Amino acid sequence: MSKIKTLKNVDVKNKRVLVRVDFDVPMDDQLNIVDNSRIKGCLSTFEYLIKQKAKIILISHTGRPNGKKDKKLSLKSIVGELGKLLNKKILFSSEIFGVKVKEKIKKMKFGDILLLENIRFWKQEEQNDQEFAKKIAELGDIYINESFAVSHRKHASIVGIPQFLPSVAGFLLEKEIEELDKILKKPMKPLVAIIGGAKIETKIKVINKFLKIADKVLIGGALANTIFASQGIAMGESKIDKESFGEVKKINLKNHKLFLPIDLGIWDGKNVIYRDVGSLQWFEKALDIGPKTIHLFNDIILKSKMVVWNGPLGLIGQKPFDRASKELIGVIDKGGIYAVVGGGDTNAFINEIGKKEIFNWVSTGGGAMLDYLSEGTLPGIEALRE
Ligand code: 3PG
Repeated sequence: MSKIKTLKNVDVKNKRVLVRVDFDVPMDDQLNIVDNSRIKGCLSTFEYLIKQKAKIILISHTGRPNGKKDKKLSLKSIVGELGKLLNKKILFSSEIFGVKVKEKIKKMKFGDILLLENIRFWKQEEQNDQEFAKKIAELGDIYINESFAVSHRKHASIVGIPQFLPSVAGFLLEKEIEELDKILKKPMKPLVAIIGGAKIETKIKVINKFLKIADKVLIGGALANTIFASQGIAMGESKIDKESFGEVKKINLKNHKLFLPIDLGIWDGKNVIYRDVGSLQWFEKALDIGPKTIHLFNDIILKSKMVVWNGPLGLIGQKPFDRASKELIGVIDKGGIYAVVGGGDTNAFINEIGKKEIFNWVSTGGGAMLDYLSEGTLPGIEALRE
């Protein structure tokens, strides 16, 4: 398999460089950015390109506008933050191909940055329309993929444009591959995978992968609820994904490496109580793993050398159901364990409680991280091969 080229392998001096980034960042109702990690992650690539005197044209999506314009999802909201982080004026274009943008780019000085409007306002992006990709490719001389977090999507700006331009990986994409390959190719042992969150169908592959390569796989979150319910265990009013019961069959629940909760943190409508799995009343709701499970998981983690974590163990937005996730972070910190974390909700949580620094790598990807860990590559990475 040919190697992918990276930014240092190409001459970008005085070139028009198209950089696909992922500025799909969490925002509040007033469109203030809540977590700017994904923007910050691209800064070293931008700084390098500015130094190299390239004309920098940024392509990104945010949200899922389904091919329609939506003011709330305009990338205009990112201009201020990016300008602040780089201490530089950022140009913006509401068109993403055609004569007007070409004119704008012609007028740019080398080292300038132009941010294009949300590419998902055009339905051709998600359809991977070749004509659309070609029209955007005409804006640049070189394409850089700096958007690990969306590289699991076969979209025009991810797999289409590289067909028309010399294409390389940006520094962040390169680093994501390097860090996740440490887990896949040379993990420190014992390796423990912790998988939480809600959507089981997005996690099946990664659970099965880690049942092969890790020493222990710990499951929490609503994921565990669905597994229990699929086995006929009463889960009361807990969040369950009934449609995915069939998917659960793809996991060997008898595998000795797999650990499911033994007790749960419950909301009975008035109080927080803890109950063993199997003893929930019809009106009760499991919102976290319980203290016995926390104890069991912490013990396993303290004996490990490497931890990979994706998806919260409980309802982290609502105290005290963030307890297990918080304790997990505490034990990783205490044990000084090499830890890699990813996933939108998990990242936002560790950021909010100021614990980002204890992790050796915080992946910018959610679904992309899971797919990379399952498959060892992503469509956006394959598109960069010569
Ligand atoms: C993400 O937030 O995980 C990426 O930006 C991909 O977004 P998507 O799931 O809407 O494709």
